[in-house]
Amino acid sequence: MISTSSFTITPPGRIEFGRGALDRLPEAVASVGRSRAFVVTDRGIAAAGILDRVRAVLTGAGLDTGVFAEVEPNPSVATIDEGAARARAFGDAAVVAVGGGSSLDAAKGIALLAVNAGAAAALDLAAEPVGPGLPVVAVPTTAGTGAETNGFGVIEDTGRHCKVYLGHASVAPRVSVLDPDLTVGLPARATAATGVDALVHGIESLTSRGRNPVSEAYAHHAVRLVHHWLPRAVEDGADREARAQLLLGSHLAGLALSISGLGLVHGIAHALTAHTGTPHGVALGAVLDRVLAFNLPASTPEYAQVAVDMGCLGVVEPGAAAAGTVAAVREFTERLGMREPLPDLGVTDEMVPDLVRTALADAVTRNNPRTPTPEELTALLTGLLAEARRG
Ligand SMILES: NC(=O)c1ccc[n+]([C@@H]2O[C@H](COP(=O)([O-])OP(=O)(O)OC[C@H]3O[C@@H](n4cnc5c(N)ncnc54)[C@H](O)[C@@H]3O)[C@@H](O)[C@H]2O)c1
Ligand SMILES: [Fe+2]
Repeated sequence: MISTSSFTITPPGRIEFGRGALDRLPEAVASVGRSRAFVVTDRGIAAAGILDRVRAVLTGAGLDTGVFAEVEPNPSVATIDEGAARARAFGDAAVVAVGGGSSLDAAKGIALLAVNAGAAAALDLAAEPVGPGLPVVAVPTTAGTGAETNGFGVIEDTGRHCKVYLGHASVAPRVSVLDPDLTVGLPARATAATGVDALVHGIESLTSRGRNPVSEAYAHHAVRLVHHWLPRAVEDGADREARAQLLLGSHLAGLALSISGLGLVHGIAHALTAHTGTPHGVALGAVLDRVLAFNLPASTPEYAQVAVDMGCLGVVEPGAAAAGTVAAVREFTERLGMREPLPDLGVTDEMVPDLVRTALADAVTRNNPRTPTPEELTALLTGLLAEARRG
């Protein structure tokens, strides 16, 4: 049901959306009061030719440009420390984050630490307040995380096998350049995985304890767009309309989650990634419908609305519509090849207690509409493992 309690919304940064928006990047850097750009990205972006395009646009406008292209998927605290040292050596600049969620999240941490003493591992949400970071301009190249909408990064603490939520309002991107042409070269499997991430952001935003009417508005439209356009973008990566609609859907889902927070699908997926290295979207897809089935008793009206967003028309009784959402989500992830059996991701029975502990300790799990007990979470994961063994 729609919440009626009071709330405060801080509008996020400026958005430059549309094909060719990359050409407006120099103006975006100027708008944050800098004439120098420190680009944070990864090797995949360099290999795809996107880094060259970004550099050409920046240097063509006369901007002194530095590059740190060493971000790895699911970036670690060590990478943030190294990138921050390089940014510090480059000097005052706008941090231009180019890539998927990994590069965007890493860039936020780097922007923060470049001007604050200390190490990334100590910068968890609960840490001491820090001073403002360098201004960030985001150029997302995947349609998935919506990481351009907030000042927080999900960084892996490799020593502790868990995610650290590192960030600060000052490193929320002041401008985001959303150019769908930059997402065209993303391979089909990565398109599916990142798109499933956006879908989950939409669905979890609609049921999380932190939701309000504004996040619900963003999330409903995000679910509609991603559900409709993701299969087309996976089938034909060069479909410009699908790419544009998906990038918009992912951005709206990001706006939603930045207000509402996430839930147990992310809590378990973070644990899976920390223990097995599974990409974020793949981990989400592997557990998504099971978690929705677990949440169903606490979220029936909300899932009935998701059924409408996903075009499951003709189902009018809320209980049936909500159950229909779980079935439709399962069919959707299967069709995309994004409902992988847990053993294929390297998950074993022996890992379950650790996964349960990590998922329960994750802040997003507390935001889930139904609070799982350790026994319930164990049953959910062993149920998925048993289902995989049955084939
Ligand atoms: N801050 C947030 O709000 C938020 C939300 C969800 C997820 N995340 C985090 O985001 C990360 C996952 O990000 P992701 O799913 O976008 O993947 P990613 O950033 O890890 O990128 C995956 C791979 O795709 C390549 N790639 C990206 N764009 C490309 C393009 N256009 N063409 C060719 N190759 C391209 C990259 O080089 C990389 O090798 C995780 O660490 C996750 O925890 C953050
Ligand atoms: Fe996510």
